[in-house]
Amino acid sequence: MIKAINLHRSYTIGKKTIEVLHGLELHIRPGEKVFLCGPSGAGKTTLMYTLAGLEMPQQGTVEIGGKSIYGLLTKARAEFRNRMMGFIFQNYMLMPELTALENASLATAIAGREATQEVTALLDRVGLGNRLDHLPNELSGGEQQRVSIARALAHNPEIIFADEPTGNLDSRNSNEVLDLLFSLADERKKTLVIVTHDPNIAKRGDRILTIRDGIVCDEA
Ligand SMILES: Nc1ncnc2c1ncn2[C@@H]1O[C@H](COP(=O)(O)OP(=O)(O)O)[C@@H](O)[C@H]1O
Ligand SMILES: [Mg+2]
Repeated sequence: MIKAINLHRSYTIGKKTIEVLHGLELHIRPGEKVFLCGPSGAGKTTLMYTLAGLEMPQQGTVEIGGKSIYGLLTKARAEFRNRMMGFIFQNYMLMPELTALENASLATAIAGREATQEVTALLDRVGLGNRLDHLPNELSGGEQQRVSIARALAHNPEIIFADEPTGNLDSRNSNEVLDLLFSLADERKKTLVIVTHDPNIAKRGDRILTIRDGIVCDEA
């Protein structure tokens, strides 16, 4: 499903160059639930953005379903991403002026599709059936993250990327969010790629890929 081939990425600030991805290779199969682990600064977010077509590598490429995404023009790559992928972020990234229902409907709206019924059912499924008209600042952190889970799934993408999805949540809400994410991914046969620096939550996946020195150094 996702294949990274010889990914190189470095950042130069002033005279200093940091090698973040250094010939990184990985292969994630359809329907797998994989955690990308490693300490802060290891390059997990950079890798996730590179796998998702959001950050072009300086060398190497990413194949999604056999297609090299960096071989596509920017616009075609964005369309491919909108269709194939859903995203969940540590700080939720909900639009502050939109309701829960409107936020969760964003990806389907971008695709030009009205899907109020499906999105309402999805919000109901994540336990927010009575919060449809709430704005993000009228929701708790756990509730906001559940809206973003609904948003990530609403357009029925094949891959869900999550960057430290429980980073701002207490342990009870973290477990709730992960339980929901895992059961929805199972039910809908999604490929799940979750970034975390927390080895405790990473145990829940099918596989842990640990990033160190710019490569996958450990596969458990
Ligand atoms: N846009 C950028 N410009 C310069 N350095 C960056 C940029 N993005 C990330 N880095 C550096 O790359 C390294 C990896 O960052 P990141 O992928 O965010 O790590 P992680 O998510 O594992 O904490 C860090 O040292 C970070 O400071
Ligand atoms: Mg990060």
